[in-house]
Amino acid sequence: MKQSFNILLLGSGGREHAFAWKISQSKHLGKLYIAPGNAGTPAYGTNVNIDPLDFEAVKVFVRENGIHMVVVGPEAPLVAGIHDFFLNDSVLKYIPVIGPQKEGAQLEGSKDFSKAFMLRHNIPTAAYSSFTAETLSEGLAFIETLDAPYVLKADGLAAGKGVIISEDEVEAKLELTEMLMEEKFGEASRKVVIEEFLHGIELSVFVLTDGVNYKILPAAKDYKRVGEGDTGLNTGGMGAISPVPFATDEFLKKVEERVVIPTVNGLKKDNIPYTGFIFIGLMNVDGEPFVIEYNCRMGDPETEVVIPRIKTDLLELFEGVANQTLDEVNLEIENNTAVTVMMVADGYPGNYEKGKVITGLDEVEDSLVFHAGTKLLNGQAVTNGGRVLAVTSVGASMNNALGKSYRNIRQIEYDGKYYRKDIGFDLREDVIEERE
Ligand code: AMP
Ligand code: GLY
Repeated sequence: MKQSFNILLLGSGGREHAFAWKISQSKHLGKLYIAPGNAGTPAYGTNVNIDPLDFEAVKVFVRENGIHMVVVGPEAPLVAGIHDFFLNDSVLKYIPVIGPQKEGAQLEGSKDFSKAFMLRHNIPTAAYSSFTAETLSEGLAFIETLDAPYVLKADGLAAGKGVIISEDEVEAKLELTEMLMEEKFGEASRKVVIEEFLHGIELSVFVLTDGVNYKILPAAKDYKRVGEGDTGLNTGGMGAISPVPFATDEFLKKVEERVVIPTVNGLKKDNIPYTGFIFIGLMNVDGEPFVIEYNCRMGDPETEVVIPRIKTDLLELFEGVANQTLDEVNLEIENNTAVTVMMVADGYPGNYEKGKVITGLDEVEDSLVFHAGTKLLNGQAVTNGGRVLAVTSVGASMNNALGKSYRNIRQIEYDGKYYRKDIGFDLREDVIEERE
């Protein structure tokens, strides 16, 4: 593999900070640039003030800086077709992009597309039907045939807000009407998927594929609700744990056979080239895996626990993806537990303030602090998003790792600091025993 590989990493969250941290350890790395990055990423590369959706600006930068590979963190540039943009350019087409083309990104960009894909390839998922404004009355009648809770999903990208789960039939009908007739989620809700509610416990499995071969990365569990005890509004994720104690080898084998293999083969059968990550959101229903959703990227904050457990050089994995030789790369995983606790701004996921000075980062010991929403202002890190810092720790056990993260969080201060104090508690053996 080439030495002195110059990488452009797109994105600005904790996921990208974790990627930057790992890429910086590669023996193949030349220069690492992060566009736009955050206050943490300059520790591992150079921040470049480019919006990942401004493809022309990305193109100029790539050509002027001898970039050998582009790694795309978030979904938006993929769904908008950044990979296709590269392939359609006479010079850029030789530069590999880690992340699927527009069609493959539809696995995340359209719920209707991904449900049809699962059905076509016999991948277990909740039963569903899709509706548009023209078929509203059929949609309302379909709701009547289902039992509560009702699950309504805007077809397109809706910044994680496009899923409505309602216990009440009348409310579900009203929601469907608003989504289809009033574009409640804008264009994203011109089409709505209504599906069966799955009872179980959620986890995510991550796959890296070159379109033919695949590697299954460590599984993770995300804590989506803002409040302790999984209460309150949904967020992008308040913390994560890897591995997932209830994802036994037996369960993960079912995931590989029933979900991962049919997904990679399905893409091939459908002639959808795919080079990048597939994030598979799963429900474990009495030990059986069902797919809730696909994403065309890594999760955030899941990346902050998955990446620290990977021993293999990330650029060797990416090179395998680019050359379709992923089968030749040996994926090595650390036998430890990683946890991350997200420090957020008070008010998130609703309104919150930005620009608060962050102190105490130098006091942190034995944890990795991945910046999620920060920027540098006059040389100082200030808050710049709802999710501010992901404090990751690894340890021999989950409790050991959690202890480190919570100890370090107490050192870090900013106005309006908030975090969940119960990450992983539902998975503690004593808690599980008490519940059973
Ligand atoms: P999605 O954006 O499709 O991942 O949905 C957001 C969240 O809604 C998921 O993480 C689940 O917690 C929940 N959810 C989605 N679909 C279902 C379903 N069919 N049954 C139960 N919960 C669901
Ligand atoms: N943490 C969930 C996501 O990245 O979509």
